[in-house]
Amino acid sequence: MARVPSGVRARAEELRKQITDANYAYYAEDSPFLSDAEYDRLFRELQEIETRFPDILSEDSPTQRVGSAPLSKFESVQHATPMLSLNNAFDEEEIMAFDRRIRESLGFDDERAVTYAAEPKFDGLAVSLTYRKGVLVLGATRGDGSAGEDVTVNLRTVRSIPLRLTAGAPGTLEVRGEVLMLRRDFESLNRQQAERGEKLFANPRNAAAGSLRQLDSRITASRRLTFFAYGIGGKGNGPVPADSHSHQLDYLQSLHFPVAGQRDVVKGVDGLLRYYRDIGEQRASLPYDIDGVVYKVDSLDAQSALGFVSRAPRFALAHKFPAQEELTQVLDIDVQVGRTGALTPVARLEPVRVGGVTVTNATLHNEDEIRRKDVRIGDFVMVRRAGDVIPEVVSVVTQRRPRNARQFVMPAKCPVCGSGVERTEGEAAARCTAGLFCPAQRKQALWHFASRRAMDIDGLGEKLIDQLVDADLLKTPADLFDLSVDTLSGLERMAEKSAGNVVAAIGRSKDTTLERFIYALGIRNVGEQTAKDLAAFFGDLGPLTSASEEALQEVPEIGPVVAASVSRFFAEPHNQQVIQRLLDAGVRWDKREPRSSAKAALGGRTFVLTGTLPSLSREDAKARIEAAGGKVTGSVSGKTDYVVAGEAPGSKLEKAAKLGINVIDEAALIELVENGPKE
Ligand code: IVH
Repeated sequence: MARVPSGVRARAEELRKQITDANYAYYAEDSPFLSDAEYDRLFRELQEIETRFPDILSEDSPTQRVGSAPLSKFESVQHATPMLSLNNAFDEEEIMAFDRRIRESLGFDDERAVTYAAEPKFDGLAVSLTYRKGVLVLGATRGDGSAGEDVTVNLRTVRSIPLRLTAGAPGTLEVRGEVLMLRRDFESLNRQQAERGEKLFANPRNAAAGSLRQLDSRITASRRLTFFAYGIGGKGNGPVPADSHSHQLDYLQSLHFPVAGQRDVVKGVDGLLRYYRDIGEQRASLPYDIDGVVYKVDSLDAQSALGFVSRAPRFALAHKFPAQEELTQVLDIDVQVGRTGALTPVARLEPVRVGGVTVTNATLHNEDEIRRKDVRIGDFVMVRRAGDVIPEVVSVVTQRRPRNARQFVMPAKCPVCGSGVERTEGEAAARCTAGLFCPAQRKQALWHFASRRAMDIDGLGEKLIDQLVDADLLKTPADLFDLSVDTLSGLERMAEKSAGNVVAAIGRSKDTTLERFIYALGIRNVGEQTAKDLAAFFGDLGPLTSASEEALQEVPEIGPVVAASVSRFFAEPHNQQVIQRLLDAGVRWDKREPRSSAKAALGGRTFVLTGTLPSLSREDAKARIEAAGGKVTGSVSGKTDYVVAGEAPGSKLEKAAKLGINVIDEAALIELVENGPKE
């Protein structure tokens, strides 16, 4: 065997460390620092070294996470201590009753608040990891709580699960937590599945479960699962904190287990409810799905004093968010024509409440999606509503398909204007070919122009726009500024007073920002974020409209597809005319120093907003920070540079204090945005 030169050994060690750190940054901290290509390059270099010098290969090398030959079945394993479940609560009263019971059992008088550890409730599957002498020897599913399945080989492929613990671990340590798939990994998995013509997963939890329970661990290895630790199941003698749950989680984090960054320690019912609201606000922007939060009495002595009822601990409670998926029936499938002419099939549903809102329609995206999910008129389907997004059909319950269920056929003519429908090679959407001559597209474009995040014209709703377009009073956004109180009050159901209000709102909207204006134009592929990026880069409309496709691609966030849409839009004479008329009507904004030339004042600094600021709305504060080159995130972490606190701040403020992060008020924020930090 070849002797191992010392430089090679050192390089292998360095590569292992870089790869392990990159895994941790991607999966645990949501802040990747390597691109996939860079990661693969390091990985291959390590593999090559290990093939040439098998002597230095070790069981805990990241290259050993690739899986092995298929098993014929999973062995059953008895858990050393049972894996319990949690009692669920859905409303504030249940939380108050939980806290009251705990105070009574612990003999606290009314005034003394209980200290709780609060965490996200991960929507994945529970597993237990056993380490002996610091080495991962067993990984098991929860099963029925007393016994689960031995999925060690599969769990070894999960890149964020440590295979060997750093020094300082006890002889035996059992870590419990949740295996899940990050949303971005779920989306790329489904994209891949679609390309290969394989079945799509309904949600990240199903994808995680399906991937973990593979007898062929090489499949699991290709699936990008991750793990978050939420507790210790058992331990031998060693330096494990024995006072509180939160200290145990800190300890697990010090051993490089991923632990939720959003966990917190709070006091009393007020603290619990504030935490629930805080996490609820962050839910949509988290990198993974959660279905609620979990409260645990923090003191471990108090936990043992409280004990268990049947299979759930008395010291913990899951406070669930309202369910986001429900079963209902597809009554029909209609076709809607969107702003860009795209024909979107929409399922008309038997009304059903999902997450506290009644859902009657759900998007089916496009024809391919209908085929892939095999949705038919009459089917029973699961519908999902996530945050503010349009509800969608997740999957069909084929077992309940009625005999008379019908296939959907995409119409060959636009259902609104009767023009031809076209589907470009390689594109998912079928489109009406009539452009702004199609009233449906015109209405949508105008509605978008007036919408809150665009020109923000109060009182100019969908109904009014429909009426104005149908009466031929409105063809382009520029026509809005010619509307008079007389014209409007001539319409059905429009009193003079409200006509006056609308005209006034249209007038007020003239004073806007460049990013809103760009977004309002409704350029294909230009959403709010891209509009912001363009505005920040060019500073004013002139340089943007005259930028070539190549120049547009110099904006760091913009690629060839967006650059082509933007340059095509501004080259179109009709669009130039409309823009000119808008400017002539008095639409204006404050010019900014273009980022292309100036050094952004807040280059890369990260802000978290909490509480109500005296004059700026959250959106305005965010816009100003971003315009100055800063970034706004939802939760406080070691990477936060400033916490901006207003009236009634949340637990983010306490967290900031704990981490020693700069806390500033609105006045200091404005000073920073305008003049940059004093170094
Ligand atoms: S603690 C003794 N913490 O919820 C308490 N569980 O209904 C044991 N879960 O099977 C669980 N996030 O898979 C705990 N932060 C969290 C959790 C969590 C998700 C799951 C877990 C368990 C189920 C209990």
